[in-house]
Amino acid sequence: IPVDPFDLVVIGGTGDLARRKILPALYRRFCAGQIPDDAQIIGAARSEMDDAGYRDFVGAALDEFAGAAGCDDRARFLSIIGYVTLDARGDGGWAALAGRLEPGRVQAFYFSVGPSLFMTIAERLQAHGMAGPDTRIVVEKPFGRDLASARALNADLAKYFDEGQIYRIDHYLGKETVQNLMAIRFGNMLFEPLWNSQYVDHIQITVAETVGVEGRGEYYERAGAMRDMVQNHLMQLLCLIAMEPPSKFDPDAVRDEKLKVIRALDPVTPDDVVRGQYLADGDRPGFREHVGNAESTTESFIALKVRISNWRWAGTPIYLRTGKRLRARTSEIDVVFKDTPHSIFGPEAGRHRNILTIRLQPNEGIDLGVTIKEPGPGGMRLVDVPLDMTFAQALGPDAKDVPDAYERLIMDVIRGNQTLFMRGDEVEAAWAWTDPIIAGWEEAGKDPIPYDTGSAGPEEALALMHRDGRRWREIRV
Ligand code: BG6
Repeated sequence: IPVDPFDLVVIGGTGDLARRKILPALYRRFCAGQIPDDAQIIGAARSEMDDAGYRDFVGAALDEFAGAAGCDDRARFLSIIGYVTLDARGDGGWAALAGRLEPGRVQAFYFSVGPSLFMTIAERLQAHGMAGPDTRIVVEKPFGRDLASARALNADLAKYFDEGQIYRIDHYLGKETVQNLMAIRFGNMLFEPLWNSQYVDHIQITVAETVGVEGRGEYYERAGAMRDMVQNHLMQLLCLIAMEPPSKFDPDAVRDEKLKVIRALDPVTPDDVVRGQYLADGDRPGFREHVGNAESTTESFIALKVRISNWRWAGTPIYLRTGKRLRARTSEIDVVFKDTPHSIFGPEAGRHRNILTIRLQPNEGIDLGVTIKEPGPGGMRLVDVPLDMTFAQALGPDAKDVPDAYERLIMDVIRGNQTLFMRGDEVEAAWAWTDPIIAGWEEAGKDPIPYDTGSAGPEEALALMHRDGRRWREIRV
């Protein structure tokens, strides 16, 4: 169903995020018939360019990043694209931008720029009459680098916009399987009764990447895996897996429950944190070369043991890990259930456990490991087999073309649905939990441990679970 005509201004419209994600996502939604022909998408950036020049730029971005997806009528999509040369820090271009917008429709401004520009952009939108009650703004991570800076950003934006107008993106929330996590938990009777510390031994969340920090060294050296991935993406996954059932699927009901999880997290001591840094691998530079600091103590890998102090989860630890240059690109959540209280098959039947695996990427799907009898006339021998539901197989060819997270999220901005966006208090609570963990390792002077490209991170991360008599699931495709 097409949305009503809208104006979307991408500030930073010539940047990397616009090229790789925002423009291809809009193109795919246009091809899907969701964006009407009289919508306007306006790129705004410092470069001197006219509409035609920007259309060429967008065409090239689509060639490179829109993949096979698309439609025949690319010219029709390009015809809704325009461009305004804009000086984010000065006054140039703002009046021209205001003149391009059509009154009376949804107007969204995507701040695809660093957070240091948020405030000056907000001021200028206001000064040029573009910050009305129906205006929506979209801001990207990093949303601050600690609690103090996140609070300051929230306070700055609040001078011009209500919370209901601010869309803080965490693109993990737009991933299809992440939304499915809620469908699985709250759309089935099967899982929820078992979803607590009485039945769940522990939960693991792994986001493993094979890429390094090539090209992003400067940002990454100041961020590290904790700020880049854990404070936002892994934290969001943790919230969705652990939260109480919201009363309805509505923005504040969902975000209230997520916030309660973050507030119930115990502080994490340095003993429950392992940080790592990838080494050079043949011709491929190591982390310290990528960030241009031979003494860097920033982590490209982190594993943590986390506890949630509430009625549902007390006693069930959650293990988180994420890192770059690991063995495979894979993201999954594993809910590992407890052993049966007694085995009627005797000790030789071995230990068998149910594990519910939610695979975010690749091969999105869900897999439930169940124990059955090994076929054959022999004795009662048990084996674990997967009840596998790879979405692409189960739902047919349409499911193969899993939409990119940005497609869903941008359309939600236009539709005015904040459910999959972070609320200001949520971001602040996440930093309030993160800050002391970082301070903890800084005070303890614990440096990251080197690890090999293609490994599962430092050995010490394995030990983090071994000492509890548990083990990580293998990182594999
Ligand atoms: C980004 C991080 O937010 O997420 C990157 O800044 C990371 O460092 C990326 O590579 C991972 O996203 P995805 O969608 O590829 O899992």
